Amino acid sequence: MSTPGLSFIVQPGGSLCGRIRVPGDKSISHRSVIFGALANGTTEVRGFLNGADCLATIDAFRAMGVKVEHPEPTVLRIHGVGLHGLKAPAQALDVGNSGTSMRLMAGLLAGQGFAATLCGDASLTRRPMKRIVDPLTQMGARLETSTAGTAPLHIQPATGLHGIDYIMPVSSAQVKSCLLLAGLYAGGTTTVHDPGASRDHTERMLRAFGVTVTVDGACVSLQGGQALHAARVDIPADISSAAFFMVAAAIAPGSDLTLETVGTNPTRIGIVEILRRMGADIELLNARRLGDEPVADIRIRGSRPLHGADIGADLVTLAIDEIPALFVAAACAEGTTRISGAHELRVKESDRIATMAAGLGAMGAELQEQPDGAVITGGALHGAHVQAYSDHRIAMSLAMAALRSVGEIRIDDCDNVRTSFPGFCALAQSVGLSIHEITSTID
Ligand code: S3P
Repeated sequence: MSTPGLSFIVQPGGSLCGRIRVPGDKSISHRSVIFGALANGTTEVRGFLNGADCLATIDAFRAMGVKVEHPEPTVLRIHGVGLHGLKAPAQALDVGNSGTSMRLMAGLLAGQGFAATLCGDASLTRRPMKRIVDPLTQMGARLETSTAGTAPLHIQPATGLHGIDYIMPVSSAQVKSCLLLAGLYAGGTTTVHDPGASRDHTERMLRAFGVTVTVDGACVSLQGGQALHAARVDIPADISSAAFFMVAAAIAPGSDLTLETVGTNPTRIGIVEILRRMGADIELLNARRLGDEPVADIRIRGSRPLHGADIGADLVTLAIDEIPALFVAAACAEGTTRISGAHELRVKESDRIATMAAGLGAMGAELQEQPDGAVITGGALHGAHVQAYSDHRIAMSLAMAALRSVGEIRIDDCDNVRTSFPGFCALAQSVGLSIHEITSTID
């Protein structure tokens, strides 16, 4: 039985060659809209990710009176309304599949003089929100969730937030950013302690918008009440989207692929380090800056077999969204790969440990699920009919496994690839992946 919606059919074998630029960084695209909307003046954005998640963030701000021009797919002009210029939305703000929209926007909505509701799709409605609700409540915000601690989030008008000093139990850029956004509306100083090294795009972009942000080791602080000033934002290609192609070229002998202008922020670079530990042939060329972020062209060649590696919590934080693709690398490597410290994968768009285990297991991979990761031993993969469980990263990771399977791979439930990677199939075809899409409906 096939699931209605978009499926990918991928023919086995082949290699990937050429030069491509994958779409803009999702995390940075969301932040450009949020900070542009809260700034004084007009923010110009280039390299924007025109995917459903970031479009949901734009729609939410439009519903609160912000004018956002979108003259080209990757260009935005955001007419900021200032920190206190948002208007009450007429209805609930539906952010679809986007955890980043929901968690970051909850922080700034907690500081408004009006009530708002944030809701999303079935996957987002299963994801934990207590991690933001607890610290926001400590700051004086009034929010309600379902009894399970999930969306919809009902946020009451603020009666005066105050800064807190908060130790995050789990390293999370979404929680950190949520609290820093609430902190802009709070009296005094908001400080967030990060037990890991979560992505720092918020800190970088706030500074570019003129906000003083203090970083002291694992602590980030800001003073409430600071105005944001419009800026120009140039967005690199998303290393999380590049990751599917990096793994693909590394597992397919004869590949020679260059991915242009990829963001190489040190908090996102785990995929490169992990693939190098597995023996991949990867070079970072033409390292430079694009706006506030480092970028490079990444060349990957399928010139030698990968081998297994131990990947622990330190590297997992720096590659959290790339672990599904790395499961595929591990299933095609010689020997055993142990991934641990990755509990957070269980609360992403799907339970990514379980969904990758199901997909690769159906292809014949030797894989044992662990509570916080997996033990994967490389070997032969056969053709299979598998599910993406509505998770964009599962769909794209499993598609790349076809390069090393001996039969066709069909992946159902791939519609959500549009959340982060519009044009994925066409771009993958252009460098040699034998992939096509089919749409099925319920009879
Ligand atoms: C994101 C942070 C990460 C990541 C997500 C995007 C962000 O989530 O998985 O895709 O833009 O801040 P966590 O903060 O939950 O680790």
